[in-house]
Amino acid sequence: MRKKIIAGNWKMNKSFEEGMALVTEIIGMVKDEYQGSAEVVIIPPFIHLNAINRMVAEINNISSGAQNCSNHESGAYTGEISAGMIKSIGAEYVIVGHSERRQYFGEHNDWLAKKIDAVIKNNLTPIYCVGETLDERENNKHFEILKQQISEGIFHLGADEIKKVVIAYEPVWAIGTGKTATTAQAQEVHAYIRTLIATHYNTDIAAAITIQYGGSVKPENAAELFASPDIDGALVGGAALQSRSFVDIIKAMK
Ligand code: PGA
Repeated sequence: MRKKIIAGNWKMNKSFEEGMALVTEIIGMVKDEYQGSAEVVIIPPFIHLNAINRMVAEINNISSGAQNCSNHESGAYTGEISAGMIKSIGAEYVIVGHSERRQYFGEHNDWLAKKIDAVIKNNLTPIYCVGETLDERENNKHFEILKQQISEGIFHLGADEIKKVVIAYEPVWAIGTGKTATTAQAQEVHAYIRTLIATHYNTDIAAAITIQYGGSVKPENAAELFASPDIDGALVGGAALQSRSFVDIIKAMK
């Protein structure tokens, strides 16, 4: 069975103290209220990550991750954080190619392919984000764009490496807008991504890869999204900033 993953991407939110309080609440609520099989991943700003990882390290179904990493191993890259450093504090996941990084920081597929390599080399799990803009969807270009993002970002990996990748489909027009893709739209794209993987690798690998949906996931729409055969969890932004809404989304994954 595929691994189900609910990840909370805090983006650039929460002071250190607020972050500690939020994680404490999430840990307590998950322990008390969640009996399902999904893995919960907390993805805070870098400066909170070490402390948060220590809080979740001993908890079976909760782990931590970073929102980004450098494509270099070490050296004179002021302001950057390497995958090796993330590994050294015990975090397990790294988001690669979030649309905000693509949009505001000019990260392109060839650059992201190198980050993917750095993450995998350090035995971390990349959450590779893909998704089309509104303009691309309205012009019926979304499949083409997704194919390009997937093939240029991760198809250089060998069969053993691709199995370690988690993919997050996040339509840019649904991120932070309150506008979620319909379950049918999300399912259609997830199935398409799985077909791309099956064609490039094989059906066993395609069937084993976790594909999360992201973009205005809320307690109100989570259960319906998760009931789709190819949606294996969520990458949650806004609703992950409050323990109640985040844990309610987790509980929607049986
Ligand atoms: P959102 O963000 O849930 O606030 O739409 C999702 C994301 O950017 O990962």
